This record gives sequence, structure tokens and C-alpha cells, in this order.
Amino acid sequence: MTDGESLEYKCVEQVIKKILETQPASTGLQDIVDVLYEGFEKYSWVGIYLVRGGVLVLGPWRGTQATEHTTIPLGKGVCGAAAKTGKTERVDDVSKDKRYLSCFLSTRSEIVVPIKKSTVVIGEIDIDSDTPAAFDSNDTVFLEKVADMLAQHI
Ligand code: SME
Repeated sequence: MTDGESLEYKCVEQVIKKILETQPASTGLQDIVDVLYEGFEKYSWVGIYLVRGGVLVLGPWRGTQATEHTTIPLGKGVCGAAAKTGKTERVDDVSKDKRYLSCFLSTRSEIVVPIKKSTVVIGEIDIDSDTPAAFDSNDTVFLEKVADMLAQHI
């Protein structure tokens, strides 16, 4: 990671912190999705799913297209896998992952980060990229930090 990239993660983290300090989750979540989408060119689609009645329900999202997967059962797709295990899923090549539920033809890689209150998954951050293997451990560490911040506000 270059110093510039590391600064970018830190800046976006600070902006998200500020949003959470000044806004209720009801309006803040959309702003956070917007900040993530606008902050990183490789983040082609950003959404937050929330667990409601045992399924993942799409909340705020930002991208060029809407997804047809607005509800996903736990255990289905990459999103459902992350929600079931509580572990971050990073898929470098979505065409090679049998669990992958296709939303956009342009997507090449995906990261899904659970939002947990203690060990209970209450939602997740889902990001698609049009770039192959767009996500690395820096994204994982950064997004897990964002998910922790979100968990305190949802
Ligand atoms: N690809 C996800 C479905 C959600 S869309 O990417 C927005 C999955 O495999 O669960």
C-alpha cells in the first residue's frame, strides 16, 4: 500500500466517524454508502444489507444499477455465507465461486463484511468491483473497522 492509499482509507474512516457522530443511523447509513462509493474508484457498487426476520434485506445502496437481490436467505450466495459464518468473504474472481449470486454483468470481484453486535450478525457491507481481485487485506481491515463503527449505531 502506498502512503497515498493509506491516507485515503484514514480520510474516509474519519468522514464516516463524523457522520455517525452527527446523524442517526436512519439517515447516516445512506451517507456512509455514498462516502464509500465516492471514496474508492474500485468500489463499483456499495450496499448495506440488514438482517430482518432471518433474511438479509437490502438497505441503502449506491451504484449505477439496482440489484434484483433485495432479499437473500442466510447461507445463500456470498452475502448469505458471510452472514451465516460471521466472517468476511473476499472473492477475487466471482466467475469461479459457485456460491456467487450474479447481480451485474460487469462485476469481477466482491467483498462482504458482516456487521456484528458481539457475535450476532445484524447486517453486512457488500461491495462489488468491476476490477478483478480488487480487494486486499487493507480493504478487509478498513471495512471491518467501518462495520464495527456501524454496529454501534444500528
Ligand atoms: N453477489 C451477491 C449478491 C448481492 S449483489 O452483489 C448486490 C452474493 O453472491 O451473495
